[in-house]
Amino acid sequence: MLYIVYCIAIIHFVSLVLANHAKKYTNCVHGGTLAVHQTSLLHRSCLSATHGAIFCAENADCNAFSYNYLSEVCVFYRSINCQLNGENGKTTFTNVTGFVYCPSGWIMLGNSCYFYENTRKLDWDDAMEYCTSQGGYLGEVTDEAEFQLVDSLITGDVFIGCRLNNGNWQWITSGRELLLYDTLWTPGEPNRSEGDCVQIWKGTKLDDDSCHLLKNVLCEKAVLFL
Ligand SMILES: *[C@@H]1O[C@H](CO)[C@@H](O)[C@H](O)[C@H]1NC(C)=O
Ligand SMILES: *[C@@H]1O[C@H](CO)[C@@H](O)[C@H](O)[C@H]1NC(C)=O
Repeated sequence: MLYIVYCIAIIHFVSLVLANHAKKYTNCVHGGTLAVHQTSLLHRSCLSATHGAIFCAENADCNAFSYNYLSEVCVFYRSINCQLNGENGKTTFTNVTGFVYCPSGWIMLGNSCYFYENTRKLDWDDAMEYCTSQGGYLGEVTDEAEFQLVDSLITGDVFIGCRLNNGNWQWITSGRELLLYDTLWTPGEPNRSEGDCVQIWKGTKLDDDSCHLLKNVLCEKAVLFL
């Protein structure tokens, strides 16, 4: 048993070391960070960044890759909203310092990835468990700007990760408190007439509602860095 743990620790350490020896390239025009939507994560050995660029250019879905010069492995990515960086019909790859991306099926809005589950309805506890099983958490809304982004994604009411806890409205994953006078609440809410959980009441804003109702779910997770 100890032996197995030891091996896992070593493997983890080695992969961390290798990760620091990867350089990233894209053929998209970019400023700062690049949003990469990782569809099919494809690894293959490649002897140089030039080989990586050739493989990437051959694949219409590829807009970015990382080249690890110690392991000589390239990982290829597809970028969303990629404006190709090219002149005279030639694609140019440039190195970038970081990629930011969301896993397949998750949508990048601001600094987070969101997964809108509108094919099933769950009560609040099941919604929380569902998001955890997807590697995220039940969505949290920090401010007005994030609310606007999230509201544009959903088409109906969704549970989010806030509920009454010891008399305070609390975002359960981050532990932040949602104050009674926060402008994220729908005017007149919370009115404590229905329950202890919080929904986005589509068409308005946040609203207290019964934890036992079944609603669509909005999961969130931090963007990933390549
Ligand atoms: C590419 O990497 C080199 C060396 O790390 C750096 O000097 C250069 O500014 C980078 N170019 C871009 C476009 O990031
Ligand atoms: C509380 O708000 C809900 C909407 O979330 C509304 O249907 C209900 O009538 C309100 N109750 C009171 C007592 O105002």
